[in-house]
Amino acid sequence: MLDLSGSCGDGYVSKGRGFMRVLFVCLGNICRSPSAEGVFRAMAPEVATDSAGTAGWHVGKPPYGPMQAAALARDIDLSDLRARQFVAADYERFDLILGMDAENITNIETVRPVGNKTEVRLFTDYAAHSGMSEVPDPYYTRDFDGALDLIEACARGLKAALDAA
Ligand code: 4NP
Repeated sequence: MLDLSGSCGDGYVSKGRGFMRVLFVCLGNICRSPSAEGVFRAMAPEVATDSAGTAGWHVGKPPYGPMQAAALARDIDLSDLRARQFVAADYERFDLILGMDAENITNIETVRPVGNKTEVRLFTDYAAHSGMSEVPDPYYTRDFDGALDLIEACARGLKAALDAA
């Protein structure tokens, strides 16, 4: 799934460039991707993580209040995170870029630098058993707990994939 041919036992080392770096991407960077970052960094502190939005509407803002509250109820503190927009340079800064839905993937791929081979996938690829092909946006569905349930399942799958690589 992921080419970790350069990995060794001390954390996740990718392609000789240092520790594994994973970027989570959604639309606004105030609900799904900061939640994915918060859940995954608690599970895999040895991996460098960040999140971004394909839109710039909320740049500089903390995660959405109801999203933070739902995460905090699970002991996931998102309060230090601030929204930023996805940029083409992220292709050079990360080893794996994970979109929350198909539209995210389209927007991410639109700015891929010529010749860049960074892996871009759906986060839900790591929770195939869920039967979900995207993380529904709780900003619209208002189902913050449902989104977190799926994000936790995806994060567990991602951690298992990296551990197995
Ligand atoms: P996110 O959700 O992509 O999971 O952060 C959204 C948050 C805000 C908006 C859209 C999606 N918005 O239109 O402001």
